[in-house]
Amino acid sequence: MMRVLVVGGGGREHAIIIKLKESEKVDEIYCAPGNAGISCDAECVDIKATDILALADFAESRKIDFTVVGMDDPLVMGIVDEFEKRGLRIFGPRKNAAIIEGSKAFSKELMKKYDIPTAKYETFDDFNDACSYIKKSALPIVVKADGLALGKGVLICESIEEAEAALKQLMIDKKFGKSGSKVVIEEFLTGPEVSVLSFCDGNTVVPMVSAQDHKRAFDNDKGLNTGGMGTFSPSRIYTPEIADACMEKIFKPTARALKKEGREFKGIIYFGLMITKDGPKVIEYNARFGDPETQVVLPRLESDLFEIFEACVDGTLDKIDIKWKDNAAACVILASGGYPESYQKGFVIDGLEKCAQRDDIYVYHAGTALKDGKFITNGGRVIGVTGIGENLDEAIKIAYEGVGMVEFEKMHFRRDIGVKRENINS
Ligand code: AMP
Ligand code: GLY
Repeated sequence: MMRVLVVGGGGREHAIIIKLKESEKVDEIYCAPGNAGISCDAECVDIKATDILALADFAESRKIDFTVVGMDDPLVMGIVDEFEKRGLRIFGPRKNAAIIEGSKAFSKELMKKYDIPTAKYETFDDFNDACSYIKKSALPIVVKADGLALGKGVLICESIEEAEAALKQLMIDKKFGKSGSKVVIEEFLTGPEVSVLSFCDGNTVVPMVSAQDHKRAFDNDKGLNTGGMGTFSPSRIYTPEIADACMEKIFKPTARALKKEGREFKGIIYFGLMITKDGPKVIEYNARFGDPETQVVLPRLESDLFEIFEACVDGTLDKIDIKWKDNAAACVILASGGYPESYQKGFVIDGLEKCAQRDDIYVYHAGTALKDGKFITNGGRVIGVTGIGENLDEAIKIAYEGVGMVEFEKMHFRRDIGVKRENINS
């Protein structure tokens, strides 16, 4: 009888929980803090994902056998170290390995040292030095906050003035607090982007099926960057040849490099890749599942997710065979009108019960709450609707059938998730 705690409360955690429910080994699932939709599949616990001590106390007192961390902040803060100190089993990297997401300066240096392909860069902690460097650089140029910035710390600058304004925002005005006191300035790369999430047990790294994310708010990649407006899996451009090159030049070398540095990585390494004309390069590492990539990757997993998590913690990933379904998935995010800027909350969500009748549609809740027995909107990204089909076209069609069943006031979604385009980053 396994009691599992999942830390986080978005669509990603909902997708993890729905997959864990399929495991015969898992009996009870708790989620901290969870959300209204998750409360239908797990017992939600009112503890913030960053309140590490309270989470560890909860795991001890409720005799939780295994904890899975979905979100980045607690990992970067050291939740795994605290749980391990108390003898609690937990899936995720320790603080010294989660730094691959927590510090871009660190991850760039690691890639440089171990010859892992990535954009050329320099790191600065002095504003004037950074400005002088910009003046000598080719345009466009990319300015990145070193630390976590809710996915908003990357600025692509077309002119020197724009780059100086970006540096000022990060380093002087401290728009993202301490995260911007150091910056990485890097070469602008072009090419389609692919997300490959992978399981890692410290030695062995096993990539999952590929996915692509649409980050901009509006169709045709217009509007502001968001946390992700939709995803699909597999990627059309991630060929077996590219996958092999990534395995040999990026995935294995990253796991080896971390081990060599005494930062053994157990958990999920998310490789944000750009397929450039010079081959695949790393745009970013994350130390956790992607959101909303998870909502298209996990439904395609055939094997028992809980067994894989255990193998990662036990260092036995090479002993198990991870199987995927030969199908495709597409996820469309239903957002509150106005997101990623200001938006209203509290609208009733209709039609979810229609989606529930379909076994080729999954509804993952991100920002919902319950009021008078009804789901209401409670965040920018409200719900992810995933369609599963035999191929991508089918999956996309099914996802949009699901979208058509759901309704709330000021609902906004992209109509071009998964649409095939040439020369565009999707
Ligand atoms: P990140 O938060 O590092 O994933 O960056 C957000 C987005 O900025 C990426 O998905 C890319 O579309 C873009 N980006 C980041 N770095 C570069 C780069 N060196 N060249 C071009 N685009 C980039
Ligand atoms: N979908 C991008 C991320 O999870 O970072």
